[in-house]
Amino acid sequence: MTEQQRLAQAAGCLLHWYDSSRRILPWRENPEPYRVWVSEIMLQQTRVEAVKPYYERFLAEIPTISALAQVPEEQLMKLWEGLGYYSRARNLQRAAKVVCEEYGGRLPCTSKELNRLPGIGEYTAGAIASIAYGEVCTAVDGNVLRVISRILEKEWDIRSTAVKKAVTEMIVPVIPQERPGDFNQALMELGAMVCLPNGTPKCEGCPLAALCLSFQHQRQEEIPRKAAKKARPIEQRVVYLLFREGRVALRRRPSNGLLSGMWEFPNFLETEEPDIGIAPFHLREGKKAKHIFSHLEWHMTGMIAQVKEEGAFHWASAEELQEEIALPSAFRVFRRQALQVLTEGRREKE
Ligand code: ADE
Repeated sequence: MTEQQRLAQAAGCLLHWYDSSRRILPWRENPEPYRVWVSEIMLQQTRVEAVKPYYERFLAEIPTISALAQVPEEQLMKLWEGLGYYSRARNLQRAAKVVCEEYGGRLPCTSKELNRLPGIGEYTAGAIASIAYGEVCTAVDGNVLRVISRILEKEWDIRSTAVKKAVTEMIVPVIPQERPGDFNQALMELGAMVCLPNGTPKCEGCPLAALCLSFQHQRQEEIPRKAAKKARPIEQRVVYLLFREGRVALRRRPSNGLLSGMWEFPNFLETEEPDIGIAPFHLREGKKAKHIFSHLEWHMTGMIAQVKEEGAFHWASAEELQEEIALPSAFRVFRRQALQVLTEGRREKE
């Protein structure tokens, strides 16, 4: 059997499996372009289970593309709070503005045009165009690369662009013409539910086991080849919770780099001189927390202090911190402690 014949057979089995085994997910029930677009952006680097609650809330508050183009940035970021990779939300809004200005508020319907919008790369463009518009095109992500590599027992490096191109070219001829969106989602679904990346893939329940060369030769755990893991650098940081007149100090992060433009509690590398600009008193140690970014870890120690002067900070009330300010989840523990301190202080006054 040639590789193309193997993949063509796999495509048929896969769709059949998808019809009976797919998860019921909110964006699958009504694949209207705006809904599919928002889902695909949220699903970039984020698990389905983590996305679900955000997705419903987002669409309830921002139900259309023109609403997205106009929503105040603070509200948008608050809806995204905790999902991470916040530039996704900013790009979503930038793209919505382009769609309103250049496409009369309707999301363009080809993968080529979608790919030109901010935040929509080749994979996301393919996913949206196939799912929402039925364009016969691929959406090749890590899941798809793994599934195809295993079926064909390929030892190649799936991080290489040449391999991605080769896989794309192999899939194109086998996409079922009537159901490209379901086909792409079936590949993603198999990668997420059965053909798992780490540990043991669930080959006993795989609809493609009989066609899978890696399974035949019991090589499913070796393929695809693992890239050597780079150690994540660890930063020891001190996070200041500064209180003044029943409010806590926040500042904006720089407009580029990690968590660009997001609010934060002032924080410094342990080895840096903390440049708060005002004199803290009643300094005491607060909670400790860790946060893992894709490429970096923060190990944080809180310092709680009172200050007299205003300095260059934004002073947030408990309500503001709770309801309005979008704070990255790296600071979750410190937000909770700040809210505790603020509400205790208020109770003491009463
Ligand atoms: N990951 C990315 N897109 C997805 C989709 N449409 N369904 C499930 N998982 C996904």
